[in-house]
Amino acid sequence: MGCNNASVTPTAERTIPVRRVDIDFDSASIPRHYMADGMVASHVVTVLSCLFPSGEDFFVDSVRHYRDRVTDPELRRQVTAFVGQEAIHSREHRAVNDALGRLGYPTATIDRNVTVALRTLRRLLPPPMRLAVTAALEHYTATLAYLLLSDPAVEGMALAPEIRAIFTWHAIEEFEHKAVAFDVYQLVSGNHALRSITMRLTTVGFLIAVAVGTVQSLLSDPDARHPRALLASLRASRSSPFVSRALWSRIRDYHRRDFHPDDHDDPELLERWVDRLFGPAGEMVGSLR
Ligand SMILES: [Fe+2]
Ligand SMILES: [Fe+2]
Repeated sequence: MGCNNASVTPTAERTIPVRRVDIDFDSASIPRHYMADGMVASHVVTVLSCLFPSGEDFFVDSVRHYRDRVTDPELRRQVTAFVGQEAIHSREHRAVNDALGRLGYPTATIDRNVTVALRTLRRLLPPPMRLAVTAALEHYTATLAYLLLSDPAVEGMALAPEIRAIFTWHAIEEFEHKAVAFDVYQLVSGNHALRSITMRLTTVGFLIAVAVGTVQSLLSDPDARHPRALLASLRASRSSPFVSRALWSRIRDYHRRDFHPDDHDDPELLERWVDRLFGPAGEMVGSLR
């Protein structure tokens, strides 16, 4: 796999602040089906949350592996900020997963399965492909982040404020650092065919992981044993923006040879959210340590 340094332009300046967020998750105040769309949506979101701690550790290792190859001071600074943001996401998702575990979700089992799967992947894949997997999944998190932050119905999505807080804060930061893994990949490999095929394989793996985890999680829920309730809940989650055409068209854009994550930038949207959560009267200022 050849280097593609010749086509790499200096990294654009980006603001990627590492916010020391520490949210209190009190399982007594979180309704068991905490998503407004009901049971199935709550299980899917729980599974996503279970993918984050080990997933983000994998991302950090994949990018950090190439830290010495990054000579551009701006990109080096962004790599450090990326590692800082992901480490805190990982910690906070562990905390929310523990709280969801106390509500009866099999978060510990799902987390263990994800950890084993990623450990195997780490052993099997060469470093450039691990980085390509990371860049692909970072495109997923940035796309899901954009859909969440731009949805006017975001207010009513979660019935517990701390759940809304972790996902909106996490979404902001995924949007802020969406280009870091990609830029490192372009620097050390830049191979378009590998990037594109890895996105296809990652999509299959990601969908299988979410589907298997959701079935496993639903099997532990006594309410899911009523076929009518299960079907109604499944129908309710079909209107979610996370299964919309917009999602797949933004994901597909990644296959373009000249794609860059900045093509999906939306600075005004980001600024609005940063101000809303962390501005002078921000909703999450009290969660900063
Ligand atoms: Fe993250
Ligand atoms: Fe990320």
